[in-house]
Formats: sequence, structure tokens, C-alpha cells
Amino acid sequence: MNLTIRPGNPIQGVLTISSPFPLPGDKSLSHRAALFAALALGESKIDNFLDSGVTKSLLKALRQSGVDWELKGNGLCVQGKGLNSLQASELPIDCGNSATTMRLLAGALAGQGVSAILDGSEGLRKRPMDRIVNPLQEMGVPISASENGCAPLILQARKPQQKLRGGTFSLTQASAQVKTCLLLAGLGADREFIIREPVASRDHSERMLRAMGVQLQNPDPLTIALTPSEKQLKPLRMRLPGDFSAAAFLLVAALITPGSDLWIRGVGLNPGRTGLLDALLAMGGNIEVINKPDQAGEPIGDIHAQFSQLHAITISGNLVVRMIDEFPAFAIAATVAEGTSLVRDARELRFKESDRITSLIAHLNSLGVRTTEAEDGFSIVGGSRLKGTKVQSLGDHRLAMAMAIAGLVSESPIQIQSAEIINESFPHFGELFVSLGAEMGWQG
Ligand code: S3P
Repeated sequence: MNLTIRPGNPIQGVLTISSPFPLPGDKSLSHRAALFAALALGESKIDNFLDSGVTKSLLKALRQSGVDWELKGNGLCVQGKGLNSLQASELPIDCGNSATTMRLLAGALAGQGVSAILDGSEGLRKRPMDRIVNPLQEMGVPISASENGCAPLILQARKPQQKLRGGTFSLTQASAQVKTCLLLAGLGADREFIIREPVASRDHSERMLRAMGVQLQNPDPLTIALTPSEKQLKPLRMRLPGDFSAAAFLLVAALITPGSDLWIRGVGLNPGRTGLLDALLAMGGNIEVINKPDQAGEPIGDIHAQFSQLHAITISGNLVVRMIDEFPAFAIAATVAEGTSLVRDARELRFKESDRITSLIAHLNSLGVRTTEAEDGFSIVGGSRLKGTKVQSLGDHRLAMAMAIAGLVSESPIQIQSAEIINESFPHFGELFVSLGAEMGWQG
């Protein structure tokens, strides 16, 4: 399906949980809540669960592993049967387009010692899995990837008395998915299990696992120490915050489109996720944040954004990790900002749903934007009027959404082909924008 966006209309309104098209629930937290609930003992109830392509992949994979769950609207109910309750499945488990599903589930299954084959879409088969396979093998997990270090992953069964090895594992890249995979495998390790990260990645798993009774310490901000135990995890009762990474597109849309004035209520504000807020504020964004009491053990708040004259910025170092999913949205802000924006230390973008350095540069060039590409980032010369264009989504939901918000301020319409990929993380994206005044429509 194609999504066409016509420029001209401002983005206005107040988005709340009861809006006809509300901000979707947090993707990272939805994955964790469903999977951790499956490992807990008892019934978990999770509200504002993200019902989208990637989370459906996880839910289907859980069912195939013997987990009972029911999704009614955005309420997920999971009947957790405790640690070591996941079942081996003969047929390959299809993780669809979801790297989070593959990496987190691999950790959980490895911890339980059951056999499985984890596979996925053509796109997922290109994502690096050696980053989980190597440390899992070090722990004693009989797991292998294909020759290029990607899926399919083959996990062999382990004897129940064969515990995985604890110890210290130093990650070479900051990755919450790798960290979570190892924590899940480490739940039943033979001794203390320590993970060190080069830069702190989002800590959703640590917060949720602690709330479920797991003993996790942070001797310093880059180190997580897990004390394995036979104790069962407590079930979850929580309402998930709105997804900051989805809000990012609304936020940038409001800042760049003249006349815009938007409130987004109930957005997750985990500091490991909100790097884009800091970047946009430093660019002169007219943004106000009102903090609210924590929800589901996570900071949340309301965000108010109005049209602003933005100026260029340089992004590097730790900030890259804190906004790792937000570069497509950021790039559109940079195209309208005054001056040349630079991104460095961001080689990790090459391993996302597309190579987000090359694909962003190609798509920005088709908008008539001057750019340069580096191995670990790019530069964007802002301030010129964007041209209308037709582009492919390249199987990358965030690239597609970024091009959609560019269409709010381009000279003529922008069409994104195969844009249904957006449903992987942001169902009703087009409808939500239309409800705020944008002219967007699906064809085909
Ligand atoms: C995620 C972590 C990040 C992020 C992804 C979701 C998570 O990936 O890009 O969208 O839920 O843990 P990495 O762990 O590969 O950085």
C-alpha cells in the first residue's frame, strides 16, 4: 500500500489515551511485558499493550512455545506457568520482522534449555545475531547462527542439570536487546552474572525484572549484576506508557509545520529513550514537558510542542544511544533547521531495519536536501524547501514515517510505497495524523 501526504495543514490537538487514535503503547515495554509475564508464575494483566506487527510476532511465538494469552483491545492477559515452562517447538518459530522478538526470545529459551529454530522475514535475516550468539555460546548455550552471523538461529536442548555459566560479559556495543537476552539466559545461571556496557542503553528490562522480584544491582551506571535464584517471577499488573519513539514523529511534525500546536499526554520518558527531546530543545524547539507520577515503574509525562525556528546541531557520543531509534525523525528536523547538522558515532544505525545511514541519505537526497555520508554518521544541510517525491519504505517503518512527516512541509505531495510496514510499530499512523489535521491517505 502507498501512503500519500499533502503539505499545508498544521498539526493541532491534544492526544490522550481516550482519543479516537491514541498514541500507541510502548513497543519495548510491550515486548518485555508479554515475554516476562510468560516466565512469571500466575496471571499478568497488561493495559495499553501495543497491538502491532512486531508484537504480534512475539505473541505468536509465545503461543508456539506453549504460552496461553488473550488480547482484548489493548489489554493483554498472560497465563504465566513459571520459569522453565516454555516448550520446545518442532516447527521453526517465525519472528517476522521483529529483531526484539528474536533476540529476547533466544535468551529466554536458552535459559530454559529447550530446542528451537528462530527464523524471520528476509529483512530480519539480514540483522546481526552474532552479538547474542557469541556471548550465549560463552555461557554454554548450544546455539548457532548461519554463516553470516544472522538468522536462522538453531538452539539445541540442554540437560536440565546443565546450568549456564555466570561470570562477566563485556558488550562491544550498547544494546538493550543484547543486554536483555543475556539477562533472561542468566536468570538460571550457576553464579553471579555481570554485564558491562560501553554506554548505558535503555533500562526497561532491569526496572521490570526488579519489580518481578529479580535481584539486580547496578554497582555503577554501566554495570548490571544479576544474582540468579530459583524463586519464581511475580506476575505483572500494569498500564504501559505511550511510546516515546512513536511520539517522536508527532513531535517533529509539530515543530516543523507552521501553525502547529500539539499536546501528547502519557508519553514514556525513560531517560535512556529521550535523547531526541534534548536534541530538539538544543535546536531551539518550543517544547514543554510536564512530568507525571511514574507508571509501570517508568517515568512518564505530557509533552507540548509548537512550531519553532530550529537551528542545526551536532550529535555524537552517549546521546546517540539515547536516541538510537529517532534518527529518521531527527533527520527531518535537521532538513528544515538553519545550518548544517552533523551526526557522528552512529555506525549502529547501519544495523537497523535498513542501513539507516545509507537509506536516510538516499531519501533525503530525493527531497533535494544536500547531505554527506560518513561511515559512522552523516551531515545534513538544512534550510532549503523540500521537494515532493515518491520513495520506497525499504521495509523500514521508521524511514517510512520520517518521509511521511517530511510531506507536511514539502513543496508538493510525497508518496511512500509499501508504507504498510508502518503497522509494524505504529498502527493507525495515517489516521492519527489525519485526526490532528494532516492530509494523509492510503491507496492500493
Ligand atoms: C530495543 C532496543 C534497540 C532499539 C529497538 C528496541 C529494545 O535496539 O533500536 O528498536 O526494545 O530493547 P538495540 O538493542 O539493537 O540497540
